[in-house]
Amino acid sequence: MSAPFTIAIDGPAAAGKGTISRAVAAHYGFEHLDTGLLYRAVGAKVLLGVDPVQAAQRLVTADLDSDDLRSPEVAQAASKVAAIAAVRAALLDFQRSFARRAGGAVLDGRDIGTVICPEAEAKLFVTASPEVRAERRFAELSAQGTAISRAQVLADVKERDARDRSRAEAPLLPAKDAVEIDTSEMSIEAAIATAIAAIEARRR
Ligand code: CDP
Repeated sequence: MSAPFTIAIDGPAAAGKGTISRAVAAHYGFEHLDTGLLYRAVGAKVLLGVDPVQAAQRLVTADLDSDDLRSPEVAQAASKVAAIAAVRAALLDFQRSFARRAGGAVLDGRDIGTVICPEAEAKLFVTASPEVRAERRFAELSAQGTAISRAQVLADVKERDARDRSRAEAPLLPAKDAVEIDTSEMSIEAAIATAIAAIEARRR
């Protein structure tokens, strides 16, 4: 079994963390956890009337499978439950163990490099302008058949970022030792190559 090697990829909504994380995980043969799905799954249960803390405490992996988790309503509900300390606490151990699993792990989210795994061997903070992020999310949502305007997607992204940055518990912010990658002007291929180059620099 090889030693743990954790790659923490944080950043604001729709910055490209998911695409970069999946590519980086495939490149190194590491397991990948999209931690946003945990908060989305809790948010989805809250929309059905479940108490947020109970939803977080009783979350099971099957809850992460639903396609409905990608909707804008669930994204907003996720960022609301994500501000609740007891919700974050309930999801902590699972994320920490995943991060330190043997064989290497890539986790993407908001607080991976700051709270979940401050000892991560490589930390990236992926950003892009709100307009570019909203455009990318609009394309994704349109492709999955969601009827929503560009203006609404931009407003949602800005609202979620503001909530994620201003919360008291595990706010969205770059770890001191994170490498920042602004993907506003980058192709997907360039963003992945930049991420891998930054990780290689930490592996040496
Ligand atoms: O895909 P996108 O970047 O739009 O969002 P996501 O990563 O699926 O996260 C959804 C929401 O969950 C975020 O707006 C955060 O409020 C919350 N979240 C968090 O607080 N901490 C994490 N590690 C991951 C997500």
